[in-house]
Formats: sequence, structure tokens, C-alpha cells
Amino acid sequence: MTESSKLNISDDFEYLKKTDPDVAEAILLELLRQDSQLEMIASENFASRAVLAALANVMQNKYAEGYPGKRYYGGCSEVDKVEEMARERAMSLFSAEHANVQPHSGTQANMTAYMAFLSPGDKIMGMSLSHGGHLSHGHPVNFSGKLFEVVHYTVDPDTKMLNYDTIEEQVLKEKPKMFVAGASAYPRFWDFKRLRAICDQVGCFLMMDMAHVAGLIAAGVHDNPTPFADIVTSTTHKTLRGPRGGFVLCREEFRDQIDKTNFPGTQGGPFMHAIAAKAVCFKEAMTEEFKAYQKQVVANAQQLAKSLVERGFDIVSGGTDNHLFLVDLTNKGMSGKKAERALEKAGITVNKNTVPFDQKSPFVTSGIRVGTPALTTRGMKESEMEKIADMMSRVLDNLGDDEMGKKVKKETKALCEAFPLYPEYKR
Ligand SMILES: Cc1ncc(COP(=O)(O)O)c(C=O)c1O
Repeated sequence: MTESSKLNISDDFEYLKKTDPDVAEAILLELLRQDSQLEMIASENFASRAVLAALANVMQNKYAEGYPGKRYYGGCSEVDKVEEMARERAMSLFSAEHANVQPHSGTQANMTAYMAFLSPGDKIMGMSLSHGGHLSHGHPVNFSGKLFEVVHYTVDPDTKMLNYDTIEEQVLKEKPKMFVAGASAYPRFWDFKRLRAICDQVGCFLMMDMAHVAGLIAAGVHDNPTPFADIVTSTTHKTLRGPRGGFVLCREEFRDQIDKTNFPGTQGGPFMHAIAAKAVCFKEAMTEEFKAYQKQVVANAQQLAKSLVERGFDIVSGGTDNHLFLVDLTNKGMSGKKAERALEKAGITVNKNTVPFDQKSPFVTSGIRVGTPALTTRGMKESEMEKIADMMSRVLDNLGDDEMGKKVKKETKALCEAFPLYPEYKR
């Protein structure tokens, strides 16, 4: 038995219960909440116990400014190993020449990407937030909108999908320095080859923020942007099912630019516990089991969308190619805000979301965003999606009927009990 294998840290939570029962109680109640509701927020997922274990340990004690082999602090031998593992696994998973795994979040990864290639005042072109883009793609309230000149592209008014001919015209006219692909609420595939060809006509950088679809890309269920984009950014906690965090991929030629921009350019010391957990998540993402999981995520989203259409719901763009879709509730005469509340009361968690060309404000919205990554992690398949569509429609078609809400809540609870979350945890 080695020295390290004799260590036992599994009693830590029991220890927390004794030392800080209030925080421990909140954590336990959050576990019960997650376990007892149908979690359908498209950006959320349930990380494995291995990821959780890698997050909560002594790695968080270490300051390690710099990069493996070139740190500003002593004592970095073990964190160096972990960061190298995370980097190499990310590179192998996405066929990238370089990976920086230090960004604390998706937004930080985007900040690094912009700061590495752009100067304040440069022009970027990102998808409009109200059409599915992210705040960090140039929204006025975000640093990206304050630092850069921003032009937005939108989806096509008829198809509600990207029209690459229109995008081409806009890029030729606007000549941005960077084109930002990627979204938080776009249910269709991205055509990276076409975007590369468009960007090449005006010599603009192509960045892909794959935060939402990274897990699908790792599993080969969505095209990989790495061969086409100059820079790829991502989170690790959505479809990739890892710890909260971000990372950046690029070609070897941009390695120094990216690394220097991330540290010391935009961040201080890396979160070594999060990097350890990223390494674990990347390893999990290399397995056949993970590939099967991602296929099921998409199959579930497609089934759920189809079952909702059968019940009279309007799905933006008519369906989905990925893990999420948008329901436009205009024909049901209700707002996304009301729908979100009613579903939550019945134990179904979704988020209100603007739909393209929405007439309502982002606080009210005409739609909801629905995702299947977390349900699929629990083991649910197409037949459960049909049941869930039925529950959703009974709640939404009977808004204000408390009895119906209560009845569906009982059903969601029973479904959750049949697919327990972290079943190994003692209750
Ligand atoms: C496309 C996209 N990029 C970036 C982010 C930001 O990630 P984070 O919340 O980790 O900053 C998100 C989060 O929802 C996202 O959807």
C-alpha cells in the first residue's frame, strides 16, 4: 500500500456537518432539490462523483501563477502534473494544437480570446442575445459590448435558422476584425467550413464559443470547430458535464499570445482544484459511455420537441439538432415568465427565454428554453421524454389550475424517484 492510498477523505462532509451545520444543511437541501425536480435548464448538468471529488480537496490551497514548468511559486510539482493532464486531454479530445485550461469561466475564456487578438475599439460581430447569442458576445451591458464596436447577426426571419448568405453579405459590408460564432440558445448545427470561407474573404479572425455544444463535439455528435476556427472557447460545466470553468483551444502559433493574455493579462492564480476536475471530465468525455450519453441527449431533445409539437406547441425553427430547443408560447397566449413559474410549481425547471424577433422584454419573454443534458445524465430516454411533454402540456394548457399543478408535481416526483441522482449517496 502506498502512502497516498492510505489517506481517507470521504468523511469530510460529515465533518462539515459538525463544524458548520448551517452550510452543510443548505448543501444537503440543494442535493434534495436537484434530486426531486426535472432539471431542464439547457446549460446545467450533474457532474460525476469523480468530478466532485476532484473539486473538493487540497488542490484548492495551492497558488500556481504561471504555467507548468514556469511558475511564480515553489511547490508546484503536483499541480503541474494535473494541469498538463488537463491540457493534453483537452487537446486530444478536440484535436487541438494548444489548450489553456486556466479560465475560471466561459466569460473569462472569451475575455482572453478577445484580449489576445483585439484592441479596444476593434469591431466584432456576434450573434444577437435575443436571437440566441451570449452576453459576452458584445452585449452593451457586458465588457465585450463596452470595449469593442459590435455588430450583431441574427437568425433568418422565416426559418429562424442562420442564413449563411446573409451573414456573408454582412461580413463583407462590416469587415469585422473578429467573427464570434456560438450561442446559448440556438438549436441548430453550426457550419464552420462556411464561416471560415466567409471570414477569409475579409481576413477576419474566426472564434467559436462552443460552451453549449462542447460535449456533443467531444462525442462527435456535432462538427468540431478546431480545424476551422482561429480560437475556440468553452465552458466545462454544460454538456461536457464537468466542473464550473472554461478553457481555450488554438493553434500552436497563437499559444504564447493566448497564455500571456490569460495570465497575467486577465486572471491571477489558476484554480488548481477546478483544473484537476477539468482533467477528470476530459477523461470521462473520451469514453464510449460518454459518446452514447451525448447521442441520447440529442435523441431526447428531438423526442421531447416532437412530443410537444404533437400537443400544439410551436418549436422555434421546427426542431433541434442539439441538446436544446426553444418553445414559442405566443400561440398559447402566455409569456415565458408565466410558463416558467407554472412549470416550477409542478417540479419542472426551465428558463424563460426570448425567441427570435420577440416583442416582449427579456424579463417577460415569449418563450422558454428547454434542454435535455441533465435529464439524460439521470438515465432518462425517449419514453420519459414523451411523459414529460405530456406533463408540460397539462400544466401549460391549464395555467392557474392548482389541482393540475399538484397532480403533475406528484408525477414529476415519482419520475425523479425512478431515476435517482447520485444514488450512491447515503440518505
Ligand atoms: C455560449 C456561452 N458562452 C459563454 C458562457 C458563459 O459562461 P460562464 O457562465 O461560465 O461565464 C455561456 C453561459 O451560459 C454561454 O452560453
